[in-house]
Amino acid sequence: MSFSIPRGTQDILPEDITKWHLIEQTARNLFSTYNFSEIRTPIFENTDVFARGVGEKSELFNKEMYTFEDKGGRSLTLRPEGTAAVTRSNIMHSLYKRMNPLKLYYIGPFFRYERPQAGRYRQFHQIGVEYIGESSAYADAEVIALGYHLFESLGISDLKVHINSVGCKVARPVIEEMVKQFLSNNLNKLPQYIQDKFNENPLRILDSKDESVQAYIAGMPDIKEALTQESKDHFFSVLQHLDEMQIPYEVTNTLVRGLEYYTETVFEIISDHLGAQSTVCGGGRYNNLSKELGGPSLPAFGFGFGIERTVMLLDHINKEFTTSIDIYFIPLDTLSRDLLFYVMNKLRGYNISCEIGYSDQLKSQLKKANKLNAKRVVIIGEDEREQKLAQYKDMINRTHEMVPCDQLVEVILNDFDVNELAKV
Ligand code: HAM
Repeated sequence: MSFSIPRGTQDILPEDITKWHLIEQTARNLFSTYNFSEIRTPIFENTDVFARGVGEKSELFNKEMYTFEDKGGRSLTLRPEGTAAVTRSNIMHSLYKRMNPLKLYYIGPFFRYERPQAGRYRQFHQIGVEYIGESSAYADAEVIALGYHLFESLGISDLKVHINSVGCKVARPVIEEMVKQFLSNNLNKLPQYIQDKFNENPLRILDSKDESVQAYIAGMPDIKEALTQESKDHFFSVLQHLDEMQIPYEVTNTLVRGLEYYTETVFEIISDHLGAQSTVCGGGRYNNLSKELGGPSLPAFGFGFGIERTVMLLDHINKEFTTSIDIYFIPLDTLSRDLLFYVMNKLRGYNISCEIGYSDQLKSQLKKANKLNAKRVVIIGEDEREQKLAQYKDMINRTHEMVPCDQLVEVILNDFDVNELAKV
């Protein structure tokens, strides 16, 4: 019997993992430059965290959550996103009392019951940051710049930053009314699923990807007209700081984002190379979430980006990913195997990456060494052993020398510039 995997999940195979490591390591390095620390929250939370967090009117809450009852009758949910969970953790441990502002990042799997397609999975992986406790427009600009630089550091530059503001709590009903008024005359011409949103969540109509809907929305007045002067000032300061940092952006009046916690600035980083799922990174300000989850009022700003979609972008730029090992050992008989096994284990103690072939087939072992991109190959057979010598091949420069067996470790350490005291 052979097993398949659940729809919308995938195995990340060894040949692809280098890209994942590169993305994760680039992110970790940059987060440390920007002084963010890692936080790890559970893979599942009490359902209420997300009900109150992402909003009961949101599509994410209504259609996409993996919610189940455990054997004790508790309602639990596989985390569909990180912001609500990080905010819950901040409140629970009073992290904001120890560090304010609090700058956190996370890397891990998330779960959404969505229709799977290219770039959209039911288990996907996100890297996110949350800058909590700072209301200044500088914080918005700093975090957007961090997101932009992250993709730049990966060599992905063909991206657009779309930005908008949805204002504060006061503006929300005014904006909703504005959208409703504008669409009311043509409502029956719009698809049924859009008509359904009209009363429930009219803001979501704005960022519909449906072209027929977009045609109606095109003539709508800018929702930012409904914002308070304070919100307008905040938004223009963010744009000014982005200009100062030379981060290119486009103000997109219909950008509102799907999660209900957003207030003020919202943004997305978009690529033309991702097909229908063109957003690689999304985020914004969420000044009310901490209070809504029962904590103190803490303004915050953050983003999340999908690792799967970032891998697709790396594939698009055809970035070369070759892995290699330092030494491949080829012993051609039992005694040589004992000797090279000993040498290999010594070298691994100095962080030199090694592999050994246990079969006596020289030709097939050399093929394996090439496949692994070995920088050096060591061969010992009966003849070499009798002379107490090893063949030492430099596979990069195509040179070859004979090295006394009892000096092999020393010669290799010298070759790799490793100090004998550097044993790990
Ligand atoms: P989001 O826009 O829902 O925001 O997700 C952020 C990113 O996660 C997306 O741009 C996309 O790259 C990736 N993503 C989302 N769903 C999927 C999926 N089904 N398959 C593959 N990739 C996916 C949030 O989750 C917010 N928590 C971001 C945030 C942090 N806002 C403030 N702080």
